[in-house]
Amino acid sequence: MILKLHRLNACFLGLFLAAHLINLLFVALSPTAHIAVMQALRLVYRNGIIEPLLLAGLILQLCLGLALIYKRGKPKGRWAWAQVLSGLYIIIFLAQHVPAVLMARWTLNFDTNIWFASAVVSEMPYLLYFAPYYMLAIIAVFTHLAAALHFRGYLRLARALPAIGGIWAFAVVIPMMRIGPIPAPYNTYLEINFGKTQPNG
Ligand code: HEM
Repeated sequence: MILKLHRLNACFLGLFLAAHLINLLFVALSPTAHIAVMQALRLVYRNGIIEPLLLAGLILQLCLGLALIYKRGKPKGRWAWAQVLSGLYIIIFLAQHVPAVLMARWTLNFDTNIWFASAVVSEMPYLLYFAPYYMLAIIAVFTHLAAALHFRGYLRLARALPAIGGIWAFAVVIPMMRIGPIPAPYNTYLEINFGKTQPNG
């Protein structure tokens, strides 16, 4: 029952996630292209009905995931470990990522577009934390999906997916690190959150 619900909910959340991760690839083309696609996607995922469902679905998914880990006990085998560890990383990532986005939007009135995410991977020392943080999130999503597919018998696809995740992570985060200079309001974000005093160029 818990597993069925986790899978069903994953299909719903997967629609957002696929759109989100494909949208991030557009950064390599240009920030403008990425933002244009994002604005079209926001019409759907920021819709007054869809967004609360998406956020509630995320919380439900994290709880179901934790329940599955508890129910199964100690993982047995490589794929079981990969499934649990990637799932746990996704939980830790989302517990930071989603509140950061929502707080910036609601309390600072920021447009949380790619400049918002790029600000933290464009400059030392922040990028030492945030570049691996974002890359691992993408790799974890692909690994988590790979483990699910492995247990359903899609062995070759499952083996390929973590590597595809790694390539995707580089294809997203490296362009994010290089698209600067970061526009002024997003420097303010660094100042407010991390005590940065010198605006970057
Ligand atoms: C390199 C990796 C990632 C980057 C740079 C990134 C960046 C962003 C940005 C800029 C937003 C704000 C979107 C907007 O204002 O319309 C956002 C929202 C969000 N992201 Fe990510 N994201 C990444 C990976 C992920 C992953 C792996 C997940 C899920 C596992 C995720 C889940 C979400 C969710 C749930 C939202 C909130 C959507 C909303 O209600 O507005 N993100 N992300």
